[in-house]
Amino acid sequence: MKRSLKPSTLLYPLPAVLVTGGTMDNSTVMTAAWTGIVNSDPPMTYVSIRPERYSYPIIKEKGEFVINLTTVALVEATDYAGCVSGRKEDKFEKLGLKKVPGEIVSAPLIAQCPVNLECRITEERELGSHTMFLAEIVRVHVDESLFDANDRICLEKAGLLAYVHGSYHAVTPRKLGTFGYSVMKPKTKKKKAAESRSRSLLKKKNKENKRKESVFTGKNRLVSED
Ligand SMILES: Cc1cc2nc3c(=O)[nH]c(=O)nc-3n(C[C@H](O)[C@H](O)[C@H](O)COP(=O)(O)O)c2cc1C
Repeated sequence: MKRSLKPSTLLYPLPAVLVTGGTMDNSTVMTAAWTGIVNSDPPMTYVSIRPERYSYPIIKEKGEFVINLTTVALVEATDYAGCVSGRKEDKFEKLGLKKVPGEIVSAPLIAQCPVNLECRITEERELGSHTMFLAEIVRVHVDESLFDANDRICLEKAGLLAYVHGSYHAVTPRKLGTFGYSVMKPKTKKKKAAESRSRSLLKKKNKENKRKESVFTGKNRLVSED
C-alpha cells in the first residue's frame, strides 16, 4: 500500500556539491543539490540555480563553474555555504576553503574537495523557480589518494556526502556489486578477478623494484657526494 501524493522533487539520494564561480580574486561558492549528469560523450552536467542567489549573475556572466564534490569532513561547510549568502561574507575565508586555480575555467577549485569538475555552460533554461545551466565538463581533477595500484579511481574511499530529503548522509564503502555484475557469466567473473589479481601483483612488483632501484642509486649518490 502506498500513499499517492501531490507532485514534488522526491528523487534521492542526490549529491550536495559546492559550486564555485567567478575568478580566483572575485569568487563565489554555494551549495547545490539540483545537479547531475545528463550526457556521457561529451561529458555533460547541469546545475539549477535560483536567480536570487548571489552566485547566479556571477556564474551566468562568466559562463563557467566548478562542481566540487563534498565529503563527510565538509558536511558543516556544505550546509553553511547553502544557508548563508556571499552577499554577507566571504564564505571561502569563513569556512577555510582553499582556492586552487583551474586549468581551463577561471573559477577556483576547492582544494579540500577530492573531485573537482571544471564546467563550461552550453545552454541556459529558465524552468520556473530555477535556471538550469547545462554545461560540458571540460576537465576533471581527482585526489591522488583515490587511485589504487592499478590506477583505478576508488571514489568509494572518498567519504562522499549524499543529500537525502533534507538531511546529509555518509556514502559508506559497502560494495554491493559493480556495473554489469548481475548479467555477468560466472566464467567471466572468475577471469576478471584473476586478471585484477595479476595486475595488482605486477604493480606491486614494479613498485618494489623501483624502491630497490632508488635505494641503490641513493647509496651511489651518497658515496660520490662524500
Ligand atoms: C543541501 C542544500 C542544497 C541546495 N541546493 C540548491 C540548488 O540546487 N540550487 C539553488 O539555487 N540553491 C540551493 N541551495 C541554497 C543555496 O545554496 C543558498 O541559498 C546559498 O546561500 C546561496 O549562496 P549565494 O547567495 O552566496 O550564492 C541549497 C542549499 C542547501 C543547504
